[in-house]
Amino acid sequence: MCGIVGYVGTRRVVPILLEGLRRLEYRGYDSAGLVYQHEGKLVRYRAEGKLINLENTVDENIGVASSTGIGHTRWATHGAPTEMNAHPHTDCTGELVVVHNGIIENYNTLKKDLLARGHVFSSETDTEVLAHLIEEHLDDDLEEAVRKALTLVEGSYALGVLWAKEPEMIVAARNHSPLVMGVGEDACYIASDVPALLPYTKDVIFLDDKEMTVLRKGEYTITTVDDTTPLNKPVTTIEWNAAMAEKAGYRHFMLKEIFEQPQAILNTVSGRIVPDTGMIELPEIGLDDIAIKSIERIALVACGTSWHAALIAKYWIEKWVGIPVEVDIASEFRYRSLLINDKVLTISISQSGETADTLAGIRRAAQMGSKILTICNVVGSTMTREADGVIYTHAGPEIGVASTKAFTSQLAALFLLTLYLGQVRGTMDSEQRIVYGAALIDLAKTIEELLPRLQEEIAALIESFYDSRDFLFVARGMNFPIALEGALKLKEISYIHAEGYAAGELKHGPIALIDKDMPVMGLVPQDEVYQKSVSNLEEIKARQGRLVLIGTAGDEHLSNLTEHVLYLPKVIDDLNPILYTIPAQLLSYEIANRRGCDVDQPRNLAKSVTVE
Ligand code: M6R
Repeated sequence: MCGIVGYVGTRRVVPILLEGLRRLEYRGYDSAGLVYQHEGKLVRYRAEGKLINLENTVDENIGVASSTGIGHTRWATHGAPTEMNAHPHTDCTGELVVVHNGIIENYNTLKKDLLARGHVFSSETDTEVLAHLIEEHLDDDLEEAVRKALTLVEGSYALGVLWAKEPEMIVAARNHSPLVMGVGEDACYIASDVPALLPYTKDVIFLDDKEMTVLRKGEYTITTVDDTTPLNKPVTTIEWNAAMAEKAGYRHFMLKEIFEQPQAILNTVSGRIVPDTGMIELPEIGLDDIAIKSIERIALVACGTSWHAALIAKYWIEKWVGIPVEVDIASEFRYRSLLINDKVLTISISQSGETADTLAGIRRAAQMGSKILTICNVVGSTMTREADGVIYTHAGPEIGVASTKAFTSQLAALFLLTLYLGQVRGTMDSEQRIVYGAALIDLAKTIEELLPRLQEEIAALIESFYDSRDFLFVARGMNFPIALEGALKLKEISYIHAEGYAAGELKHGPIALIDKDMPVMGLVPQDEVYQKSVSNLEEIKARQGRLVLIGTAGDEHLSNLTEHVLYLPKVIDDLNPILYTIPAQLLSYEIANRRGCDVDQPRNLAKSVTVE
C-alpha cells in the first residue's frame, strides 16, 4: 500500500524524503510525490511511475535549505495511477496539503457536500476530500481543523498534513493504516514503516488507531482525534536491520502477507456492506439492474490461484443466485469453442490484471458480445481498463510470488458479488444478506485471532512431514478447490509433488497412491458433506495413509483417525473455503521454510505471467 514519509528538523528535507520513499518501495506504488516549505509557500512535485521520475522532476535549487516536508508513494485505489491523482493533494488555496494511506469510505458523501459548498476538486481520489474538509474547518489552528475533519471521516487513514502558514510543523494521524513516528535530535519524522526511518533514528513511537500527533523540530505532542489531552507513549528502540524492517520483522513477505489477510479482507468489504439493511453496494460494477436481471449464464475465467477462487464462486453463485456458472482456465478458454453471447456475463479474476491468457480470454468474450466484469487487485491494470466494470480487491501489493492475501480477498469480493447478485435478482432477502455480510466481517476477526496459534501448531507438525516426496490434499463440496489451492501452494514453494482431489474421486484412481509414506491433508469442516468426507478419510486410514486433518473445534472423531489434527472455529459453511485456506497456506510456508527454499521467489516462477 502507499508509503508516507515526513520530516521536520534542521537538515535539508528533500534528500531525506526521497531516501525514505526509496526505502518504502517494497510496499508497491505507481506514482510518487513530495512537498516542502519554502518562503511561506508550499512547493509540490508529483510524477507517475517510479521514484526516479519524481527525482528527475524535483528542482532542488528551489528551497534548497528547506527542512520541513512530506512525501508519498501511491498505490492507486480511487482513480488511475496518474500524476493528477498522485499525492500530495491540496485544498482550494494550495496552501494546505495532505498525503494519505487508506480508504475514506464516505468520501462520496463528503465530496458532494464540499462541492455544494464551492470547493473545487482536481483529482479522482478519496484523499483530496481530506484536504478540502480540513480547509473547511481551518481558521488559524491546523491541529484543531484536522481533528474536526477526522471526526467526520469513516474509513482508514494514515495521513500527514502541511500548511504554508505553519512552516515548521506537520500534523499526522492514523486509523487502521500504519504510521510510525521517529524521534531524533532536533528533528521528528513520520513514516508508514520503520525502514524509512532507520538511516536517521532508531527511536520510534508506534501510533495507535485514532491517535494524532503534532511534530515540530525535535518536539512533539500526541493526542487522540477525540481528546486533546496529551498522551505519554513509550519510545521503542528498533533493533531490526533494514531487510528485516521491510518485512515488519517477518522472515518472508509470504508470511507477512498471510498475516495481513484479516486486514485485506476487511479492506475489500469495507464500505460495501450496509450492516443494518444488508444492502450491498458495488457502484463500480458497470452493470445496471436490468443488465444483471437479464444474465442467463456466467463465465468465470482465470489462471492458477485465481482460477481456484473462480471454482469456489461457482458453488456460491449457483447456490444463492441460481445462475448457471461455468469456470475455465483462461489458457483453455481463449482457444476452445465458446458459446458466449450478450446474455453471458464474463468475469475475469486476476491479482495483477495483466495475466496474458486471462486478458486474451476476456478480449475474446467481449468480441462475442459478452459484458466483462473483472475482479482485480491492481488499479489501472490492463484488465480493469478493458472491462465494463471492476470489483477491486483492496489487498494491497502482494510481493511474495505465491498468492495468499490476494486469493482470500478475491474470495471476499466474490462472496460480496454473490450477495449483490442475490439482492438485485431477489434470490436473497435482506435478512440473509445481513447475516452473511456480518459473518464475512466477523471472519476477518476470527482469522486474526487464529493465526498465531495456528502457525505455532503447524510449525511443530511439519517436523513429521517436511521431507515427504509427495502430498495429497482432499476435501469435498465448496472446500474441494481449497484442496487444489493447498496442493498448488505446496508444490510452487517447496517443490514437493502435491495434488488436490475431491475426496469422492479417490476411489476412482488416486487411492492407489495411498500407503504408509503418503501424507494426506484432509479439510473436513462439519458441513453438509461432513459424513461423506469422514468415510473417505476412513478409507485412507485403512490403507495406512498419513492423515493430517483440519476440522471443526470439538470434533473428537477426527482425533480417532489421526494424531495430527488442527482445529478451526465453526463459521457459516459458505465461508469455510476462506478459513480453511489459512492452514493450507501455513503448512506450505512452514514446509518450504524448513526445506530452506526461496519462499518469496520460487524457482521458475514470475509474479505476473504477462506472456503466453
Ligand atoms: O495475477 P493473476 O491472479 O492473474 O495470476 C494468476 C496466476 O499466475 C497466479 O495466481 C499464480 O498461480 C500464483 N502465483 C499462485 O500462487
